[in-house]
Amino acid sequence: MIERRPRRLRQTAALRRLVAETQLSVNDLVAPLFVRQGITDPQPIGSLPGVVQHTRPSLVEEARQLRDLGVPALILFGIPEHKDAVGSEAWNPDGIVQQALRDLRDELGDDMVLMADLCVDEYTDHGHCGIVTAQGTVDNDATLELYQQAAIAQADAGAHLTAPSGMMDGQVAAIRSALDSAGHLDTAILAYAAKYASSLYGPFRDAVDVEIADGGDRKGYQQDPANARESMMEVFLDISEGADMVMVKPAMAYLDVIAKVRAEVDVPLAAYHVSGEYAMIKAAAANGWIDGDAVAMEHLLSIKRAGADFILTYLTRWAAEALQ
Ligand code: PBG
Repeated sequence: MIERRPRRLRQTAALRRLVAETQLSVNDLVAPLFVRQGITDPQPIGSLPGVVQHTRPSLVEEARQLRDLGVPALILFGIPEHKDAVGSEAWNPDGIVQQALRDLRDELGDDMVLMADLCVDEYTDHGHCGIVTAQGTVDNDATLELYQQAAIAQADAGAHLTAPSGMMDGQVAAIRSALDSAGHLDTAILAYAAKYASSLYGPFRDAVDVEIADGGDRKGYQQDPANARESMMEVFLDISEGADMVMVKPAMAYLDVIAKVRAEVDVPLAAYHVSGEYAMIKAAAANGWIDGDAVAMEHLLSIKRAGADFILTYLTRWAAEALQ
């Protein structure tokens, strides 16, 4: 009998390269960037080492450098000076994200895909992703109207793509019809389709100055980490409502969900390697407990191996440089 010896193909770096099933390239990376109104210098974010809240000019400079590194896309989050109960800065034509989108479109044209996260939590004084009722719950259908206005404002300002992240039911259909009615037939939708109520978003909330009122959480609208089958329903609903691409978020603890979605749908699939995943790598590396660069590459490769076509990650700039 012929003896199978899998180690034969692992003997040299060139052999391993030849038989690698998964490739990670700069084309797979999307940079999440933060822009803050009313600051004159970029502000570091303590729990996201190496990531900053940008000024409008520093944002444009960062985007230019990412473009020069070959990164195909960025996703923008805004921190307004003034928050209110409904998050009205999210659709103000002169709101911070809309201003920043115009700056970026003027500077970059179509060189990078300009994605705008679409939610109101960065803009509400209570930190929820929608309108809070007297009972303290988030009103699904009233919130959809806010998302429609924000989508139009983002498209007007030059976003190529809007990415609704609020997990309201029917949000993709509502946004698609609003965009179409406003003549934005070509603005794409990347749906945060399977988005979990994860504890890994902590550093992001530092980045956008969000604290959910009364010690609240998002378990009433984001998915329960216990559920995987439910993700397929969310994904199929979003595609039927007109999503051009879908996302699973977070990534590493949800590789099973990424693999399941990849097996069952044909639209492009994104995964979000979220703030807590990045922070854990940085913290352990700073303690000398892991090799941070090696673990970072292993995370990104594994997310692709599971089936993601591209990855939203705070590692984008570093990875783009490492992959040159
Ligand atoms: C909502 C939004 C969140 C993230 C992206 N979009 C926060 C939340 O749902 O609470 C988290 C991203 C990260 O942790 O890196 N606007």
